[in-house]
Amino acid sequence: MPKDAATEPWLASGSLKREQVRQMFSDISSTYDFMNSAMSLRLHHRWRRQAAKQLQLRPGDKVVDVCTGTGDFVLPLRAHVGESGFVLGVDFCSPMLERARAKGILASWSIGDACSLPLRSGLVDGVTVGWGLRNVPDIAAALREIARVLKPGGRFVCLDMAVPQNPVLRTMSRLIFNHAIPALGALFGRRRAYTYLPKSTEKFATREELAELMRQAGFTDVKWSNLFFGNICIHYGKK
Ligand SMILES: C[S@@+](CC[C@H](N)C(=O)[O-])C[C@H]1O[C@@H](n2cnc3c(N)ncnc32)[C@H](O)[C@@H]1O
Repeated sequence: MPKDAATEPWLASGSLKREQVRQMFSDISSTYDFMNSAMSLRLHHRWRRQAAKQLQLRPGDKVVDVCTGTGDFVLPLRAHVGESGFVLGVDFCSPMLERARAKGILASWSIGDACSLPLRSGLVDGVTVGWGLRNVPDIAAALREIARVLKPGGRFVCLDMAVPQNPVLRTMSRLIFNHAIPALGALFGRRRAYTYLPKSTEKFATREELAELMRQAGFTDVKWSNLFFGNICIHYGKK
């Protein structure tokens, strides 16, 4: 085990990472929405809308948002499936899910792990994960689980951080994410959690690796699109 893996979630793996990540999101749940808006210049809502559109949902469809956190992905999903549709948000961190519930969005909420979803197989038309897969210790297992709950022909989008491919943008991003974001987090006494963001982004699967993991989990038509100067990436796949 690397030095400090017992305390730093970006160094941990397996069940240790799972518990550290859950504790970290529990600790930052009260400032999570504010920090999201501050770091993304409020663009995070638009990015979720763009990702949700790729699912090509219709009124009455069933959709699940895995790693739903404070539930912001659920709003655009509800807009697509209408009142007759089924929208479920799943997360393993109760304080985050409590914040989602408090928003009063028309949706169901469930405590659950991305690698063991509380749904029967072949049930849903679409699955979203926003800034979630990066935190899961076994990404391949989570992708297999997502494929399991999708109907044949169902669609999946993953929206997450990425490392810019352009070297100039990459250098600028590293300066901002490694220094400014932890400093902003420190204003709320959350430097460690906002150090996790750049560290976990660097450790996360590359665009090509994630696409390959999706194909191995059974997805076809796998593609990705970059947003925000390549700092954000949407992966799409069809079962
Ligand atoms: C960065 S937040 C993203 C929240 C939300 N999707 C959004 O778009 O803002 C990551 C969320 O993933 C959840 N999470 C991390 N690992 C998980 C796992 N293995 N199973 C379920 N939820 C998990 C955390 O509790 C946290 O709420």
